[in-house]
Amino acid sequence: MSFGKQLASRLSASCAHVAVHKFPDGESLVRVLPVLDSHPIVVRSLHDPNSKVLEILFAADALRRAGAKRLTLVAPYLPYMRQDTVFRHGEPVSQHVFARLLASWFDRVLTIEAHLHRTHRLSDIMPGRSLSTVKEIAAWIRRHADDCFVVGPDSESGPRVRAIAKHAGVPYIVGQKKRLGDRRVRIALPALPQRGRAVLVDDIASSGATLAEATHALRKRGIGRIEAVVVHALFAADAIKRIERAGATRVLSCDTIAHPTNAISLAPVVAAALNRGRG
Ligand code: R5P
Repeated sequence: MSFGKQLASRLSASCAHVAVHKFPDGESLVRVLPVLDSHPIVVRSLHDPNSKVLEILFAADALRRAGAKRLTLVAPYLPYMRQDTVFRHGEPVSQHVFARLLASWFDRVLTIEAHLHRTHRLSDIMPGRSLSTVKEIAAWIRRHADDCFVVGPDSESGPRVRAIAKHAGVPYIVGQKKRLGDRRVRIALPALPQRGRAVLVDDIASSGATLAEATHALRKRGIGRIEAVVVHALFAADAIKRIERAGATRVLSCDTIAHPTNAISLAPVVAAALNRGRG
């Protein structure tokens, strides 16, 4: 079931499909049904973002014209968060441009594990919240891998990995990552706990380089069983194969992006946040 349908069912709300017509030249035309609620919630995961972003803005305009007074966007995956500063002369801060664009159309944005680094909270850049998956991933570990240690591939993953390990009651380590290119990273791991099973946790897997390198480093140290758990399954075409070739026993993901690896459902977390927002 789609994320939107799961949410509607948990909120006991109706669910309407936004029709998107693609013209031969690549432009999109959206059409919404008459608005039954003055506060509709637009649900769209924004991976592969460029046309999807325009389409949700068109939908926002159509919904306001159809009578919506308030608009919430639920984007389980929120793109353009990684470019949060000018890394090299001549670049934009895409995160801020994108945040201003969403804030001009939506009263509130809810997302899951936005890749926030130098920006501490989503509300620093737009009205909204980024929800945590710490409890859900820890619950999966308690249920399926309580004999493991948790591995964060890089220092950015450190705080989440610490929190997940604490909730799951297992040890953890955090590696050091150096990015050498879009599809190449180097990872160094510290001393490992005395356990033969590792669960690698990261927020995003794109080329798969990070999880593949971390898996390879764990294999080299003799770890026999390695599961890779990622929140946002962006996975480029050969990413899963790459991670499995490196020696991962299993790759699984949360369902912020529909993907065959989805194993952890997050609609309950979003529904609870939306219910809190109503109260
Ligand atoms: C970046 O620091 C993120 O947390 C991920 O580690 C990164 O986006 C993964 O990308 P890739 O799969 O291309 O290594």
